[in-house]
Amino acid sequence: MQAASVIRWPQPITEYIGFIGSLLPAGAIGFRYVVMRGAIARGAGASADATRRRVYSDTARRAAMIGLIGVAVAIALMLYQLPGLAARRHTTVADLVTHTAAVELQGGFLLLALIGFALALRGTNAGWPLATVGFLAALLRNGLLGEWKDLANPIHVLSAGLWIGTLFVMLAAGISVVLRNEVAREERGAIVSDMVYSFSPLALAAAAVLVVFGVIIAWEHLHVLSNLWSTPYGIALIVKLCFVAMVFALGAWNWRRQKPTLGTEPAALALRRSATSEVLVAALVLAATAVLLSIPAPRVKKPAAVPSAVPTALPAISP
Ligand code: HEM
Repeated sequence: MQAASVIRWPQPITEYIGFIGSLLPAGAIGFRYVVMRGAIARGAGASADATRRRVYSDTARRAAMIGLIGVAVAIALMLYQLPGLAARRHTTVADLVTHTAAVELQGGFLLLALIGFALALRGTNAGWPLATVGFLAALLRNGLLGEWKDLANPIHVLSAGLWIGTLFVMLAAGISVVLRNEVAREERGAIVSDMVYSFSPLALAAAAVLVVFGVIIAWEHLHVLSNLWSTPYGIALIVKLCFVAMVFALGAWNWRRQKPTLGTEPAALALRRSATSEVLVAALVLAATAVLLSIPAPRVKKPAAVPSAVPTALPAISP
């Protein structure tokens, strides 16, 4: 079996870029609405309230910047892929953009998300709700079009974003800002603890949804269990699942072993190290997924499918 020959390059690269465009905004939203909100509520009685407010406003802006980068990547990738999609559909880009509901919805809502994150970056209150509505509507646009059966992949991506994306944003925009803040020196350990305790329930729920929809998508593609070990697609899925098992193991370690020790700065530093490993292995899961998406799934015999209107994850367009 020549695994290399079944991979349709450069599709894994565009898929990976597409994941960045989905997971960063989802993570920014998860961080703002779950981690920060939870941490603010937990620390409401803390002695240094004003200090905390300043720290949280800093972390919110950094999270908005990460979300903005993600949406900008998604838009850039969509623009890059439109000519290819138009050619495959024997039409023009202008026609595609103005006459294909999925493309119109994706483009319009991504623009809304971009404006929302830009406003949030400036500290404008309306920014976060706009960004959230825009991003969720762009990702789950199949639902808006009544194509419910095509929602499994976007929900899988959304839950991956709310778990791994939020963890990434918590590390890059939350914990790193807190641990560098001189004014909040006395409070650093407690603030990180409040963030991690607020993140945990989101991570557990998102991981459960991720697995449920992962299994559904896998079953839709494999059709029979033996395809798991007898086809290149199935073997790529096994490789992915090995990395997934490592992410779950690291997540369980952080949850059961690291989280209960939190409260001090050394414990926060240790948590940051192990959570960074979790994000790095998750990056390998995404690499395996990008390859998986570029390998033809073992389909049941039926008439050749017309390429879907636009990709299931935000930007990547199926060839
Ligand atoms: C850390 C855990 C996981 C992450 C971060 C992750 C991430 C992703 C992402 C981003 C996609 C791309 C979806 C798209 O573009 O349409 C995807 C697809 C997929 N995932 Fe996962 N996933 C994880 C766990 C799982 C699990 C546990 C399973 C199965 C039991 C699974 C099975 C699949 C399948 C079958 C696809 C679809 C591939 C295709 O459309 O050909 N994933 N995953």
